[in-house]
Parts: sequence; C-alpha cells; structure tokens
Amino acid sequence: MELTIIGAGYVGLTTGAVLAELGHVVTIVDCDRRKVDRLKEGIMPFYEPGLDGLVSDQLRTGRLQFENEITITNQTELVMVCVGTPPNEDGSPDLGALTSVVDDLAKQLLLGQIVLTKSSVPPGTNSWICKRLSDAGIREMDCPVVSNPEFLREGTAIEDTRRPSRMVFGIDDRLSLAPRNELLERLYELYRGIHSPLLVTNWEGAELVKYGSNAFLAAKISYINELSCICDAYGADIRDVSCGIGMDPRIGPDFLKAGLGYGGSCLPKDLSALAYCAESRGVTSHMFEEIGSINERQMLAYAKQFLTEIDTERSSKINTEQKIRVAVWGIAFKPETDDTRMSPAITFMKQLLAWGVEVHAYDPMAIFSAHGLYLHDDPYAALLNADGLAVVTDWPVFAMNQVNWAFVKETMRGSVVLDARNIYHFGHLEKYGLIPVGIGRPLLQHQSIISEMRGNS
Ligand SMILES: NC(=O)c1ccc[n+]([C@@H]2O[C@H](COP(=O)([O-])OP(=O)(O)OC[C@H]3O[C@@H](n4cnc5c(N)ncnc54)[C@H](O)[C@@H]3O)[C@@H](O)[C@H]2O)c1
Repeated sequence: MELTIIGAGYVGLTTGAVLAELGHVVTIVDCDRRKVDRLKEGIMPFYEPGLDGLVSDQLRTGRLQFENEITITNQTELVMVCVGTPPNEDGSPDLGALTSVVDDLAKQLLLGQIVLTKSSVPPGTNSWICKRLSDAGIREMDCPVVSNPEFLREGTAIEDTRRPSRMVFGIDDRLSLAPRNELLERLYELYRGIHSPLLVTNWEGAELVKYGSNAFLAAKISYINELSCICDAYGADIRDVSCGIGMDPRIGPDFLKAGLGYGGSCLPKDLSALAYCAESRGVTSHMFEEIGSINERQMLAYAKQFLTEIDTERSSKINTEQKIRVAVWGIAFKPETDDTRMSPAITFMKQLLAWGVEVHAYDPMAIFSAHGLYLHDDPYAALLNADGLAVVTDWPVFAMNQVNWAFVKETMRGSVVLDARNIYHFGHLEKYGLIPVGIGRPLLQHQSIISEMRGNS
C-alpha cells in the first residue's frame, strides 16, 4: 500500500519504518523542517534503540521517504495521523496539531482514502474528525475515519510495533456491513505480517481503550508506591510484597515496581485527559485525581527523605554551612530513551534545586538544563564532592555490578545513596561505607519521615 504518515515522532517514525520494512511505500510528513532534513540524511531526532539502522535501511530501499508538507496524491491509500496531543494547563489535551492536520486533509483527500488516527485522543475525537471532514464536503463513505490507538513503549518501540500486544480498530458503528467489511479488509492489508490479538469496536471504544489502559498503568504504579510507604512504616520489603502480589495471575507482575512515580509523555497526560473528559460530561471520578496526587506526593516524600539522610550525616561530620551538593544518575523518564517529558527525575531535581541544593546530573542519553543544575558526561564526574547520590533511572550502566562502588565512596564527600529504583543490594553498599536508602525497604530509621510526609500531605 502507499501511505502517508503525519508526525515523525516516536510513534510516526517507528510505525513508518516498520511498515516500510513490511513492504509498504511510506511517506512521513513533519512540519519541523530541520527534523525532516536530518531524517533524509538518516539522522534520528531522538534516541530509540535500533531505529537509526531500520530507518537507514528503509531509506535505501526507497520505500521510506520524508517530506515537510502534506501532499496527498491519488496513489495514497491511507493517511495515518501521529501528531502529538500534549496536555494543556487544565489537563485537557491540546488538539491544535490534530485540528490543523485535519483541516489540511479536508482540502486534499480523494475518494477512497482512509484517515487513521494513531494519536491518543479523547473520546469523541474521531467522530469530530469525521464531522469536520464532512463539513468540508468529504463524506464518511468516501473517506472512512478509523481510530487505531498506539500502544508502543519507548525503549522497545520497534519490537512493540512489529509484535504489538493488541490491535484496536475503532470504526463508525453506523457503517453498514459491506463498507465495514471492505474497510476491515484494507486495514488487514495494512498490517499484513503483524500478528496480534484484534479488537474491533466503535470510535469511542477505541479511544477509551487507549486512555483507560494508560490510566490503569498509572494506577498500578501509584498503588504500589502507596503500598511502599506502608512497607516503610512496618519494616516490610516492597520488592517481596510486589513479587507476591504479582504472582496472582489476575494481577500480574508488571508495573508493580515501587519508585519515585510514573512519568513520560503518555501516562500523566492520558490520565489527566481522562479525568478531564469524565468531568466535562458530569461524571464524578475521584480516583483519577488521587492517582496523580499519590504520584506527586511520592516524588516529594523521597526527595525530602534523601535530604534528611544527607543532613543527618553532615551534621555529624562536616561544616554544615557548606551548600548541599548531590549527584543524580538518570534524567530520562525510563532507560533506553532520551525522552525527558514529565520525567520523575526532573521533578525530583527541580525539588532539590528549589530547596537550594546544588545538583550534578548524568544520563547516558538524556539532557536537561535548569539554573543550578550541572550536567556531566561521566557518571563519576557528577559524584565529585557530592553529599549524596540518587539513582533515579535504571539504565543498565547503573546496575549493581556495573558500578565501581569503591570509587563512588572515594569520590563523594558524603555517603548517602538513594536507590530510587530498588536495584541495589544494601549489604553490598554498606560494605563500602555507603548509606543506602530505598523505596519501601526495611530500614527502621527511615520510617518516621516517610510516614510523616504521607500524613502531612
Ligand atoms: N511516545 C509514545 O510512547 C507514545 C505511545 C503511544 C501513543 N502515543 C501517542 O501518539 C501521539 C504522538 O506521540 P509521539 O510521542 O510520537 O509525539 P512526538 O511529539 O514525538 O511527535 C509528534 C510529531 O508531530 C509533528 N507535528 C506536529 N504538528 C504537525 C503538523 N501539523 N504537521 C506535521 N507534523 C506535525 C511534530 O513536529 C513531531 O515531530 C500522541 O498522541 C501520543 O500520546 C505516544
């Protein structure tokens, strides 16, 4: 098939490269001219494992190309919309990019071309797209609109696109049997070679599968983080507790790892968008709001815990007039990406900076700038004279056996290590004279501060 993908972000670029690999002829359009120019040379706009090689290979086959403007030809069979839908201040999604794309398509679409929405959008959006096109004279039966939400994860985007957990098609439930079957046949043709469970529903159902999935994942993380505080209070180890809970097949082990909270470009945004959608239709939902509040409290509570541990050590050792200096390992919201959107690491660092702490950070891929923040290109350089180290993103390079702990201790001025991903064996760190602090790990001296923070917020 010949198709046009609009938006060369994590979703559009990965999907386009994989569909080209499957034999389709793909044009990816992005309004960012510099991004397009660089992509034509095979230079990636972000880090995603394996994507540079895949894009270069597909560029060479001639099946993948990049353009700066949407140009629909009569060869185009399908247009896939993959533009961003970032959050507005009030939690609603900003559909500005999507609206501009739809208006552009309204001027260009030709009979039989399918519009497929991959961007995550609120319920009612695909119906609205259809209406907007029809107001411009494009009938639904001529150019069907399909909601096809995306579930790929950054860091494993290629694999997730080649073998998705599921495929969801949301189509207009007013379509009669023959056009509906014809449409489905063309969608099967698009994804020929990709095998996954399939759900066909209406537009709103598909839109809510996406928002509902991300809100549920956020809920799982907030749930285990809330439980980690109870572990702190009772001296249980959250790692054992979550392992035991995850053994229940009705629950499953994923997304039950306690930490500083969820982040990234999707979970926080889709959760607040869902809460906004509920409220705007008069549906009362306290749960979504609480999931977000737990997330915020978690980051604050452990930033406070980290500083308290540092203060305790400093007061017994050195001139406490000296500014507190900490090292933070990890800036990206998770490993194997350079995406820092809504990263817990950034909220954590901003909180420390707001408390007057000097922050020295290192990440293998991600960068971030803020007043008072010093970026390093070596993890040990960030540690020089630090009072504490916080390991916030679990990149493989920060794994227990990858770190030279003797050198860590020697380079730092203090000894506190906040293991915000619970990846370290505390006994091992203690052997080097370090003071480990975890999330929901049984160290009785840490209980009171976390319980107090939780109780007060
Ligand atoms: N990133 C993920 O992990 C992920 C996973 C599943 C779903 N999604 C959803 O997919 C959508 C895209 O996400 P993303 O992370 O790929 O976004 P992104 O911000 O990485 O990329 C969006 C791209 O769209 C381009 N764009 C914006 N307006 C445009 C226009 N008018 N014409 C052409 N190009 C335009 C931007 O320049 C940018 O390159 C969002 O709705 C997101 O919620 C993202």
